[in-house]
Amino acid sequence: MLGHGVGLRLRHYDRALAGDVGRDVDWVEVVSENFFGPQGGAPGGRPRAVLERIRADRPVVLHGVSLGPGSVDPPSPRYLSTLRALCDWIEPAWVSDHLCWGAAGGHHAHELLPLPYTEEALRIVVEHVERAQEVLGRRLLLENVSSYVSYAASTMPEHEFLMEVARRADCLVLLDVNNVVVSGCNHGFDPHEYVDGIDPARVWQLHLANHSDRGTHRFDDHRGPVPAEVWSLYEHALRRLGPVSTLIEWDQEVPPWEELVAQRDEAERRAVAVLGPAAAKGGR
Ligand SMILES: [Fe+2]
Repeated sequence: MLGHGVGLRLRHYDRALAGDVGRDVDWVEVVSENFFGPQGGAPGGRPRAVLERIRADRPVVLHGVSLGPGSVDPPSPRYLSTLRALCDWIEPAWVSDHLCWGAAGGHHAHELLPLPYTEEALRIVVEHVERAQEVLGRRLLLENVSSYVSYAASTMPEHEFLMEVARRADCLVLLDVNNVVVSGCNHGFDPHEYVDGIDPARVWQLHLANHSDRGTHRFDDHRGPVPAEVWSLYEHALRRLGPVSTLIEWDQEVPPWEELVAQRDEAERRAVAVLGPAAAKGGR
């Protein structure tokens, strides 16, 4: 349990370099690929300085966007060795990516595409997660994605698929509470039932974010403060899961630092209200 943190984006790199991030947040998550060096391995220049400065003060978590463990092709050995080198350098608290696919026949969609929840897809994801964990020398956290299509071939609900991947590959879960709300609305499932189907022992992290209502569907755009519906499901999740490291994701129109930290503080305040002081044990 690291406490409550924020996803660090470009707008706040200067603040990180000045050493002013650690006093406001318990931990920081960064996008792994933003810190890949040009030849693989650790980066140089400003990205290196930013990450080193934060890491000196607070735990850092690496959050990847390109593993795509559900793609039929196995994860690229070059990608995995680059990520391993980054891990060896920065020693993250943990490494996460998404339960999705994103490549076929050598073409990368650069999207987090949803999977059919079938036994065949399950076998592919498990094999690729096991391979990634072997190269990285650590367990991965897999995150549920927001989705806008589902497959007639699916034979089980998403939360069951996610739990089965975690059990078979012995990996962990990053539960994105906002994504559960978005996908629940788009596909007509009850977000509370989804959360109730998650094994608390597997969940090491939560994500909180905003999304927009496009009329015909909800869209996961991480633009704006966490909405009431997501706060409410977060409190439900805490009652089921207990204290879990929680992170605010805000990726579009990133606000001033103080506004971002106010969201982080609100997450901590609600966790303490639901679970008591132990829910804030990241300590500040
Ligand atoms: Fe997320």
